[in-house]
Amino acid sequence: MATRGTILLTGGAGFIGSHVAVEVAAAGWQPVILDSFCTSERSVVSRVGELVGAPVRCIEADIRDAPSMRAAFGSTPIHAVIHLAGLKAVGESVEKPALYHDNNVRGTEVLLAAMDEFGVRRMVFSSSCTVYGTPQRLPIDESHPLGAINPYGQTKLDIERMLDVWADAGPDRHVCSLRYFNPVGAHASARIGESPIGIPNNLMPFVVKVARGELPELGVFGGDWPTHDGTGVRDYIHVVDLARGHVAALERLDSMHHERINLGTGSGCSVLDVVRAFERVNGVKVPHGIRPRRPGDAAAAYADASLAWRRLGWRASLGLDDMVRDAWAFASRPS
Ligand code: NAD
Ligand code: UD1
Repeated sequence: MATRGTILLTGGAGFIGSHVAVEVAAAGWQPVILDSFCTSERSVVSRVGELVGAPVRCIEADIRDAPSMRAAFGSTPIHAVIHLAGLKAVGESVEKPALYHDNNVRGTEVLLAAMDEFGVRRMVFSSSCTVYGTPQRLPIDESHPLGAINPYGQTKLDIERMLDVWADAGPDRHVCSLRYFNPVGAHASARIGESPIGIPNNLMPFVVKVARGELPELGVFGGDWPTHDGTGVRDYIHVVDLARGHVAALERLDSMHHERINLGTGSGCSVLDVVRAFERVNGVKVPHGIRPRRPGDAAAAYADASLAWRRLGWRASLGLDDMVRDAWAFASRPS
């Protein structure tokens, strides 16, 4: 069992956090999940425990609640925090910017205050390629200009800047902001994965619902983009690869002050590439039709993933076929 120290995962019951918890445990650390379950299910914690081979401790708390956060840090020594807790629906953030600021930005302030009080000096943060705004050049490296195009993106920029200030407060502080591109897929066991509530905004969950017959057709947002087949191109990354990137960051955290690192595969796939791979690999139909472009979309966005290789010794190893296979296996799991 784990012997290397305890890693606190805020938002550890979510889509990405649950996979990170499994990989953290596999690397010999003791994961502790802290989550308010505002966008996830409690049953995820026991499923993570099954995959890890031992029960995983879970603290039900909101990161904005200072007494709960103090209690969490007071209950066991924490080696590092992987901070995934956050709200992430772009459309909702436009309607409720104050909620997004309060949950994501103020929540991080409360978390950092508790870390300070208990002398916890290491953090891996879930940032996003959304901090680059509309791509001005491709591939997108970490020196690409920054800019938020919605309130959700603004919270990620605000938190990255807050972490600069926090890291500057002492030489013993270590932060790595991981800028995720488009995480998709599920654990190969099909025990954990992505289950968005309601009608999904993002491509892969939408494709899954169409394949299941729960939605009639996928609307492809634009067929005349300047891409290889006219549909939007993104850097889809398997969530298990992404999770392993967190472990790589954890291992090298003590050599960092505050570094920002892209987690992507470095190559782009179009909407039609995803649909065709999904149909071919899974033997199902995904009815689809071209619709008008979605406001705010870009033709293409994919990472320069070379810094992750240089700094973390990490690169993605799973491909689009793995992503669509595992997404479908999770969606088709027996309930
Ligand atoms: P998710 O919604 O599945 O998981 C987020 C988790 O955080 C949930 O379990 C939720 O209950 C918890 N949470 C939210 N607010 C909380 C609070 N105030 N206190 C305690 N727990 C709280 O989302 P995800 O896809 O797993 O995303 C995890 C992180 O990665 C988020 O910060 C998100 O912004 C970031 N991110 C996600 C993507 C993506 O496409 N999924 C891309 C880039 C960045
Ligand atoms: C989303 C987020 C962005 C985040 C990024 C990575 C939105 C509006 N933006 O953008 O903040 O940084 O994920 O996690 O949610 N598509 C369709 N039909 C659909 C859904 C999507 O054609 O029903 C297309 C889109 O036009 C795009 C591609 O599929 O070309 C991927 O879309 P999506 O999954 O929403 O990701 P991003 O656009 O990268």
